[in-house]
Amino acid sequence: MKDKEITVTADELQKQKLYTADVAAIMQVRAMHGTPKALVRTYGCQQNVADGERMKGMLSEMGFEFTEYEDEADFILFNTCAIREHAEDRVFGNIGALKNVKRRNPSLLIAVCGCMMEQERVAERIKVSFPFVNIVFGTHVIHRLPEMMYTAVTDSKRVFLRGHESKEIIEGLPVRRDGNTRAWVTVMYGCDNFCSYCIVPYVRGREKSRHPDAIVAECRELIEQGYKEITLLGQNVNSYGKGLPEKVNFSELLRRIDAIDGDYRLRFMTSHPKDATHELFDTIAESRHICHYIHLPCQSGSSRVLKAMNRHYDREKYLDLIRYAKEKMPDLSLTSDIIVGFPGETYEEFCETLSLIREMEFTSLFTFIFSPRPGTRAAEMEDPVTYKEKTQWFSELLKTQEEIAAKRCASMVGSTERVLIEERNEKNGLLSGRTASSIIVEFPGEDEWIGEFKNVKVTEARNWILRGECVD
Ligand code: SAH
Ligand code: SF4
Ligand code: F3S
Repeated sequence: MKDKEITVTADELQKQKLYTADVAAIMQVRAMHGTPKALVRTYGCQQNVADGERMKGMLSEMGFEFTEYEDEADFILFNTCAIREHAEDRVFGNIGALKNVKRRNPSLLIAVCGCMMEQERVAERIKVSFPFVNIVFGTHVIHRLPEMMYTAVTDSKRVFLRGHESKEIIEGLPVRRDGNTRAWVTVMYGCDNFCSYCIVPYVRGREKSRHPDAIVAECRELIEQGYKEITLLGQNVNSYGKGLPEKVNFSELLRRIDAIDGDYRLRFMTSHPKDATHELFDTIAESRHICHYIHLPCQSGSSRVLKAMNRHYDREKYLDLIRYAKEKMPDLSLTSDIIVGFPGETYEEFCETLSLIREMEFTSLFTFIFSPRPGTRAAEMEDPVTYKEKTQWFSELLKTQEEIAAKRCASMVGSTERVLIEERNEKNGLLSGRTASSIIVEFPGEDEWIGEFKNVKVTEARNWILRGECVD
């Protein structure tokens, strides 16, 4: 396979450039106050954030500036997430609230996209219940945003564009990144795993890996531009490379990026334990730029529950993997996702999760109560435990993890950490950044340091946040 067969054709992108110019001209006239303004709100994971940055890039080329205020906007785009029911409800609420904004500004153009829109029932509900939404599109067609906007404004018709999954990968779209210190680089799209609770494979389609040369070139450019941290993104980065003409696995990709000289750090997410290899941990340990940090979601500590989740590893395999990784890197920082109350999970099985997290001493956890997603296998499973009971288990989990995180942070007092400074915490006036292990450190310092690395001596631990002072 040649490059051009796995990327969206130049013709298609050229066509979109023509629409871009047309929309730019139309919006100049339609805009309420001079330069047209867009509000782009992204929900969900970093993949969505990365998509949002591409759509902002396209909107910039269409002449838009950006705003956070609905009443100022000529175009509002909600980039949605379908991972849990609560996430969807929030989006529906926020879309509903746009009705009044549109009443005040009838020429406002409203678009809704992202993972929620790849579900038939959701797109249908938008069609019927939210007639003021002009454009609805899915995750596979974001490069056609200019064309969709053109159609909506010139034909005064609602535009619905979903599905259309192809083997092509979209390369060459403009990107308007949200910051200039940390950047997201997608290495693969989609997911083939079909964990029984998860909607992602249905809304994001099959796994597709970007060409390694395109990824390395993007990383090199970012480093040259002065970005200090790159996070490689994919739902299961460890299966990177499937279907590529050249045999390149994720470890090899990491080595190629790590070979780029410069003062930066490299992270990646998410790793699936079933595909995490010893080679991966060896690569991290031997690298110059990869943080000794891995987000490796275990989801549950019970082998029976893991099987029902279709995760393809058990408790022992997870423990073995981490044992190996910690032998290689005693300073390895681990984080994980946990689902509480998977259908049929018993309290004893939940306690196996508690014991696993005690044993693992995760730096932090992302914890969720199971949410049935229509169309997934788990949504059909019997689920006798009440929601109230699940919330009690959930609190127990949080309490246990808080103690672990506090202990871990306390053990860091006295050490000196290399911190990438991200911002000033407006509440306490301190600079705030992260260690390589992804722990937040706050300390006094100058505004000019934002976006730079500093060595910070940790003087105090406040639960899961560290305080310190700059020593260089
Ligand atoms: N690809 C990643 C996860 C992406 S979704 C992985 O495999 O680890 C992020 C997290 O949301 C998942 O790890 C899981 O913990 C949680 N999640 C996904 N579907 C869920 C559901 N139906 N209910 C509750 N939590 C869910
Ligand atoms: Fe969902 Fe599993 Fe794919 Fe992660 S690996 S996105 S949890 S199906
Ligand atoms: Fe949500 Fe889609 Fe990410 S469902 S978690 S935004 S891939």
